[in-house]
Amino acid sequence: MKVLGISGSLRRDSHNAALLRAAALQLPPGVELELWEGLKAVPPYDADDEAEARPRAIRELDAAIRDADAVLIATPEYNHSVPGQLKNALDWISRPLAGNPLRNKPVAVIGASTGLFGAVWAQAEVRKIATAIGANVVDRELPVGQAADAFAEDGRLADDELELVLADLLAELIGDVRGVLAQAA
Ligand code: FNR
Repeated sequence: MKVLGISGSLRRDSHNAALLRAAALQLPPGVELELWEGLKAVPPYDADDEAEARPRAIRELDAAIRDADAVLIATPEYNHSVPGQLKNALDWISRPLAGNPLRNKPVAVIGASTGLFGAVWAQAEVRKIATAIGANVVDRELPVGQAADAFAEDGRLADDELELVLADLLAELIGDVRGVLAQAA
């Protein structure tokens, strides 16, 4: 089983990329997390480009989502909302709406911020966007605040409570995948 990890941050030392790596450490045997690295290459959405020349980064993201059983998005929070680059990529991938790769795909959203509240507003926004696109969205959040001090040396979350919240969220995400696979069998 494959989970595609998408970090909404472009920063080299991103706490959200670190959060995806912490999630990967919790996945059970047989479940791998693949990180998508193409966000910076996504141009601004343009309906003319959609019709005439879909960007390569979006074609690659489309294929990566289709190839994955589930998607885990880690979002930073910019001005109490979703970073523009992440919203832009989700806008691209939503078009055309019918048959877009996120349709019925199990999706969970987590987030880290250097503020106290752990990007909860941005996570709520991403869940709303993913729901609008037609994804099967896990209704849980993982608020990792004060992210500069949130990770232990081994890459896991330093706070045991947060590790449990992450475990529950991943269990639901993977459980949704297993439910879909069982229905298809
Ligand atoms: C921020 N940051 C931030 N943090 C927060 O908790 N709430 C917020 O509204 C904002 N707003 C905001 C706007 C902009 C433009 C920037 C650049 C930053 C701080 C943010 O949490 C911090 O930069 C994180 O480190 C971003 O995540 P990555 O890049 O570490 O993954």
